[in-house]
Amino acid sequence: MLDLVNRSCLITGGSKGIGLAIAARFARAGATCTLIARHERPLRDAISVLAESGQQDHRFLVGDVGDKGLWEQAIKMNPGIDILVNSAGQSQTSLLLRTPIQEIDDVIRANLLGTIYGTKFYLKEMTRARRGCIINISSVLATTGGAGSSVYAASKSGLHGFVKSIAKEASRFNVRINNILPGYIETEMTAVIRSSTKAETLPNPPLGRFGTAAEIADAAYYLATNDYVTGTDLIVDGGYAIR
Ligand SMILES: NC(=O)c1ccc[n+]([C@@H]2O[C@H](COP(=O)([O-])OP(=O)(O)OC[C@H]3O[C@@H](n4cnc5c(N)ncnc54)[C@H](OP(=O)(O)O)[C@@H]3O)[C@@H](O)[C@H]2O)c1
Repeated sequence: MLDLVNRSCLITGGSKGIGLAIAARFARAGATCTLIARHERPLRDAISVLAESGQQDHRFLVGDVGDKGLWEQAIKMNPGIDILVNSAGQSQTSLLLRTPIQEIDDVIRANLLGTIYGTKFYLKEMTRARRGCIINISSVLATTGGAGSSVYAASKSGLHGFVKSIAKEASRFNVRINNILPGYIETEMTAVIRSSTKAETLPNPPLGRFGTAAEIADAAYYLATNDYVTGTDLIVDGGYAIR
């Protein structure tokens, strides 16, 4: 189904993992994508993946989502977008007492501030156009917490109040905003956990496996195409949060 024909999307963290899977899903549905990440090579590779959908007009922008200058550039390059996906994110795998201050700043900047900046920069255009959809990739750890993930969980649970508030501010302009809360998903972000943890101590959700990036992309497609959903936290975690 080509439900996203003539829609333009901007996807942060679109060079890899969940962001790339969402871009590929949207491109297959007819959308034109602009991808953002800090490294150019993976972005170029990702654009080649998207081109397999048949369209050739996907683009990329290199930069850090925690840098306001990147968003000024993004708005200039791509002023009117229909869908913003904030997927860029960094993990943390250390107890707070052992986490360097620089890492704390980096995680909050990428996961929370980056999403707030992106939303602020694009909300103006979306409210003016009287349509828009914003999808943030949060985490199930925002609700469960996790030892070794305190700053990461704080950055993601900040998105909960943010989305509720922006949904209230923007609904009258027909702009929707939602979070997806993935559980453990097979991407580079979880590669270290998967390779260095014994099978019996790996996170094991009731459905008995890690999820795939494509399963998160399906959730993003649902949020992009259902015009009656806003202000939600959509959990896609194999049942991990039930415990
Ligand atoms: N994988 C999971 O199990 C899981 C579970 C719950 C939530 N999530 C969330 O899902 C999102 C995507 O994760 P993933 O698993 O797809 O991770 P990934 O495979 O490591 O990809 C992360 C992407 O974000 C980009 N990125 C990271 N920091 C950035 C920054 N400051 N500015 C711009 N781009 C940045 C990376 O490219 P560059 O390095 O080139 O910048 C890459 O494109 C994250 O927000 C993560 O917290 C993941």
